[in-house]
Amino acid sequence: MTQPTPIRRVLGPRPRLLDLFCCQGGAAKGYADAGFDVTGVDTAPQPRYPFRFVQADAVAYVLEHGAEFDVIHASPPCQHDSDCQRLQGNTHPDLIAPTRTALQATGRPWVLEKLVGPVMLCGPMFGVATYRHRYFETGGGLTLPQPHHPPHLVPQAKMGRPIPPGHYGQFVGNFSGVQHARDVMGVPWMNRDGIRECIPPAYTQFIGTTALAFLAAAGLGVAA
Ligand SMILES: C[S@@+](CC[C@H](N)C(=O)[O-])C[C@H]1O[C@@H](n2cnc3c(N)ncnc32)[C@H](O)[C@@H]1O
Repeated sequence: MTQPTPIRRVLGPRPRLLDLFCCQGGAAKGYADAGFDVTGVDTAPQPRYPFRFVQADAVAYVLEHGAEFDVIHASPPCQHDSDCQRLQGNTHPDLIAPTRTALQATGRPWVLEKLVGPVMLCGPMFGVATYRHRYFETGGGLTLPQPHHPPHLVPQAKMGRPIPPGHYGQFVGNFSGVQHARDVMGVPWMNRDGIRECIPPAYTQFIGTTALAFLAAAGLGVAA
């Protein structure tokens, strides 16, 4: 009986990344900076999204098209049991479990943003002057190292209050200082709504660089 021949494809200059639940594209910018050709998917129109955009349900889209991409990132909104939901009375369905199942079905390396572990990224790890913690799980063979978490030595402004000199801002809720937040996180195209949701691009540039090294080491090529 003949065995199927493994197909080894050569990495092209711009491997493709699918950015699910993309919002205004904080994650997307970091992956593009790392060297990916990025396509975003969101149910809401995203006129500020700076890359190719598809308005669609993320889980349905990845089940149909996920295998066309080299790496897939997903940032579902707050889970059903999150602090966010309890505080705001939201009724978000739990999108983490169905998203993970759909990501696994693609057979592609994937990154899933969550509310807790296993890998946590924070601004000062990358020279970003804010303590925005973001958590990531990976799969499909991709693993992420946990960078050293520097202690929070710079004081933080109180939530929603102007930022005193020598403090870091917290860009959550109805925060003031949109231009300052754009400058700090490197997201000059975003409005307040996008900023409060976004992954600082420096975080996904780190993840994207790790993913590119994984693709190269695994001999996985650019998806057709
Ligand atoms: C936390 S934000 C993502 C932030 C983004 N990763 C960034 O770094 O800028 C979550 C997004 O998911 C979108 N969303 C919610 N349900 C969705 C669904 N079923 N399919 C696609 N997008 C969805 C929301 O419209 C929102 O823009």
